[in-house]
Amino acid sequence: MSTSDRRSADWFGAEGRNGFIHRSWMRNQGFGPEVFDGRPVIGIANSWSELTPCNAHLRDVAEAVKRGVWEAGGLPLEFPTMSLGEPLMRPTTMLFRNLMAMEVEETIRANPLDGVVLLSGCDKTTPAQLMGAASVDLPAIMVTGGPMLNGKFRGRDIGSGTDVWRLHEEHRAGKLSAADLTEAEGCMSRSRGHCMTMGTASTMACLAEALGMQLPGSAAIPAVDSRRYALAQAAGRRAVELVEEDLRPSRMLTRAAFENAVMVNAALGGSTNAVVHLLALAGRVGVALTLDDFERLTRDIPVLVDLMPSGRFLMEDFYYAGGLPVVLGELADHLDLGQMTVTGATWKDVLDGVQCWNREVIRTVDEPVQEAGAGTAVLRGSLCPDGAVLKVSAASPGLLEHRGRALVFDRVEDYTAVCDDPDLPVDPSTVLVIRNAGPRGYPGFPEVGNVPMPRVLLEAGVEDMVRVSDARMSGTGYGTCVLHVAPESAAGGPLALVRTGDEIELSVAGRKLDLLVAPEELERRRAAWQPPERPGERGWQRLYVEHVLQADRGADLDFLTGSSGHGTPRHSH
Ligand code: FES
Ligand code: MG
Repeated sequence: MSTSDRRSADWFGAEGRNGFIHRSWMRNQGFGPEVFDGRPVIGIANSWSELTPCNAHLRDVAEAVKRGVWEAGGLPLEFPTMSLGEPLMRPTTMLFRNLMAMEVEETIRANPLDGVVLLSGCDKTTPAQLMGAASVDLPAIMVTGGPMLNGKFRGRDIGSGTDVWRLHEEHRAGKLSAADLTEAEGCMSRSRGHCMTMGTASTMACLAEALGMQLPGSAAIPAVDSRRYALAQAAGRRAVELVEEDLRPSRMLTRAAFENAVMVNAALGGSTNAVVHLLALAGRVGVALTLDDFERLTRDIPVLVDLMPSGRFLMEDFYYAGGLPVVLGELADHLDLGQMTVTGATWKDVLDGVQCWNREVIRTVDEPVQEAGAGTAVLRGSLCPDGAVLKVSAASPGLLEHRGRALVFDRVEDYTAVCDDPDLPVDPSTVLVIRNAGPRGYPGFPEVGNVPMPRVLLEAGVEDMVRVSDARMSGTGYGTCVLHVAPESAAGGPLALVRTGDEIELSVAGRKLDLLVAPEELERRRAAWQPPERPGERGWQRLYVEHVLQADRGADLDFLTGSSGHGTPRHSH
């Protein structure tokens, strides 16, 4: 591509008053006139924030990226994006994923950028940046911030999230003191980085790599490992080359790449949230990915990676074992390795010479952690006509075929207020139903689907039960939790019509979830059903509720699917 064809030349190469304005103000940062010589301008989209602890080190990562951009002859310009931190944001970061994606998209398009490096980490920041960048389709490379070092508590490894749920259940069952819990807080998060379980952040980092959008081998490098900074510098260099080669996300984000990602997620024992994010990202690039694709593609894929929450190890171990490239190599018979990566080479070439260094952490297809079908199952049936998901590897084998009576709560708070009640009418066969927790209903589609177990059951030694909701679950969570029921109850799905005492039948082998109530009775209930009122909603939340798609469509906004490209907007002055 000749220099004058670059998008940034429309700004920095302009003559007259506009060119003066574009260059002069930039020079207040100490840039000499030579940086406007037509070199590639690389934006560094940084979701750094002290409110997003998982991304709080990304300014240091950005400095390494800048070194690489300068080194390759580009001009790096770092800018902040919205940031979404799971530990603090309410009511849920998912309410804002599409807002962040929209912000990233518009910021890239409105500025004199030829390419972009995306710096993400915490769960939603990765899909949001990918969605935004995909809808612009300028050359882009992602650098996720890397996981924290393994948690260490009293001689054993503890994992982000997963052990929060576990330790708290132990505390509620009287096995762990409050002081023990406080000690564990400091032991769990002992370095910079995102959750080091195979939760949503690690899953999405791996899938960004599988999709070809970040450098191979990079997702698993711990945040504090010096190799992450060398990697970030390499990504900066590569971003400049991507512009020169005009290698854009649409070359990577093909249907086959999404199919690879779906299979890789199954082998990782990855997060159920990946389903929602991949559907949404596919929607941005016009790939008609559906829930049925997940079911069809993962039928023969065993879980190969022994990481929490499905298994024993953590991301540090995964990195030392060889990381994601080993998994892709193991799945070679299933994947389309002719897919392009951001390196400019296909996966087939990238995988040449890759080795596994620890077969306990990453298994072979012949000796997997769990047999095929243990990833995320897609359920259908009279309770979820448009689908629901259940993470088999995180569920209890004895509950996968189950029939029980519903105990229904209209709001998750109604349940948590009584879950310690000794008189709660539950037994091990009860099916807990939580509704109005979907995209529109909560609103925002929160991670409340793995509600705590009732104390009476915990005290009786029962650690799991079937829970059904239109909510999501943390990628670090576990339990026999049916999630993402669609249509959600607030949209009038059958979930809205369940009553306490109704029988519900779950058959994971049959991929079914049914409400065993006669159709005539359901019709009577439907006639009396009123959608929940939404008084006084304004701003983003109103826009979101009016336009959000259901879980089976990735919960993007209806008007954000597709792309607006990277044309240069009209002048501002
Ligand atoms: Fe940020 Fe888990 S809370 S990655
Ligand atoms: Mg999470």
